[in-house]
Amino acid sequence: MSKDDKILKFPDGFLWGAATSHFQVEGHPKEIDGTLSDWSRWTKEEGRISDKSHADQACEFYFRFEEDLSLIKDLNLGAFRLSLNWPALLDEEGGGQLDREQVDYYKRVLSGLKENGVKTFVTLFHFCLPEALSRAGGWQNPATAEAFGRFSELVAKELDGLVDYWITINEPLAYVYQGFISGFWPPGKSHDYISAFTAMRNFLYGHSLAYDALKKFSSAPVSFTCHWRPFLPKNRFSPLDHMVRFYRDRIFNHLFPQAVDEGHLHFPQPLGLSREIRQLEGEIPGLKGKCDFLAINYYTRELSRFKMGWPIDIFGECSMENELAVSDMGWEIYPKGLYDLLVTETLPYQKNGDGTARPVVITENGYANLFPPEMADGDWSLSDEQRVSYLRLHLEQLYRAIKRGVDVRGYLYWSLLDNFEWAEGLSARFGLVRVSYPTQERLLRASARVYQEIARNNALQL
Ligand code: FCB
Repeated sequence: MSKDDKILKFPDGFLWGAATSHFQVEGHPKEIDGTLSDWSRWTKEEGRISDKSHADQACEFYFRFEEDLSLIKDLNLGAFRLSLNWPALLDEEGGGQLDREQVDYYKRVLSGLKENGVKTFVTLFHFCLPEALSRAGGWQNPATAEAFGRFSELVAKELDGLVDYWITINEPLAYVYQGFISGFWPPGKSHDYISAFTAMRNFLYGHSLAYDALKKFSSAPVSFTCHWRPFLPKNRFSPLDHMVRFYRDRIFNHLFPQAVDEGHLHFPQPLGLSREIRQLEGEIPGLKGKCDFLAINYYTRELSRFKMGWPIDIFGECSMENELAVSDMGWEIYPKGLYDLLVTETLPYQKNGDGTARPVVITENGYANLFPPEMADGDWSLSDEQRVSYLRLHLEQLYRAIKRGVDVRGYLYWSLLDNFEWAEGLSARFGLVRVSYPTQERLLRASARVYQEIARNNALQL
C-alpha cells in the first residue's frame, strides 16, 4: 500500500457537518413553559422517558447558540443541520402569524452560520407537533398536513436566503413506527397499523404542500430524510423470517421515497386486501417527483424475525439477539450497510423522473454511549475510542461508495452536542462535544478532534 492509498481524499467541496434538532438541544423557554408541543407534554408524563429526564434545559442551545456556533467554526465544519420549533413559531389559533421574537432568533442563528461560511440545512418537522394539532388528531388528520403547508410558506418567506437545503419532514417512518406501533413516542399508540398508514399518507400530503410552499419563495433544494436500515432475516434458512424482512424493508425503507417518486401510495399485498388500507392507497395530487436530493440517515441494521401467534403478523419483530458489536443503545455496528444502501438499495431514488442524477447527502450518522444526566466535572467520556472507530469505519464505507460513482455531497454527523434522545432521555450521548448538563459546560471529545482533522483535510487518513 502506498502512502496515497492510506489517505482517502473526498471530492472537492464535500460538506463536512453536524446535525441537531430543536427539541433535543434548545431548552426553549416559550415551548417548555407553555407546554406548546406534544413532546413537551409527553416528557411531563410519568414513565415516558427511560432515565426520567426531560428536555426542559437540554443543551440550552436557545441561550448558548453563539458559543455553539464557535464550536462549529473551530471544528472546521462547513455544514450544520437544525430544525425549527414549529410550536414556538406559530400559534395558528392566535392569528396565524409567526412569533417575531422566534423568527429573529432563527435569523440570528442562521446568519451566524452563514457569516462563517457554513451551509445550512433546515428541517421543518423533526417529530414535534403543536399541541392544538396533536389534540385534533395529529398526523392522522389531513388538517395537520395543511397546517404544515401554511407554516412552511410563512417560514420560507422569512428565511429565504439563509437556508441552503430544506428538509420538510424528518424520518416519517421512524415517527410512525414509534408513535403508532411501538408506542414509545406520542401519540403513544401500539400496533395500530391503520393509524400508522393513515399518518404516512398525510405525511406524503404534507410533504407535497410544504415543497410547493418553499418553492414559492426559495430556490434552495428541498427533500425529506429517510432513516435507512438494512433488514436481514434473523435465521437465513427460515422462509418466515425472510417474509418479515421483506415487509419491514418495503414499508420502513421504501414506502415513502417510492410514493414520492411515483406520486401515489400503494402497499405490498396482502395489505391492500384490507378495505381500510385500500382506501389510503392511490394518487397524492402534485406529489410526484418532489425530491431534489436524497437525504439519508443511517445508524444500524436490523435482524428481523417471525413471531409465533394469532392473528399472523407479517411484520414480525426485531430480534433482540445481536450478532455484531453494539453501541450502548444496543444498535449493531454495521458500516458496510452504509455502502450497500448507497450502491444498491437507494439507487432507484438517486435519479429524478427525467433521468438526471439526484445527489445524496448523509444527513445523520452517529454513535452513542450512556452516561447519566447528572455527570458533571471530570474526564468521563472524553476519550471516546468507540465513537472514533464508528466514525472512521463509516467514512471508509462512504468513501468506497463515492469511488463507485455515488454522488454524495456531504456527511452530517449526529450530533454536534450530547442532547435529549427522545424516549432514552439525556443519558444517550451522541455528541462530538460532551455536555455536562448540571453546568452546561461543553468539552471536545477525542472524536471531535479526529473529525476536525478530517474536515480540515477533506480526507480520512487510514
Ligand atoms: C434519528 C433522529 C434523531 C436522533 C437520532 C439518534 O432517528 O432523527 O433525532 O434521535 O436518531
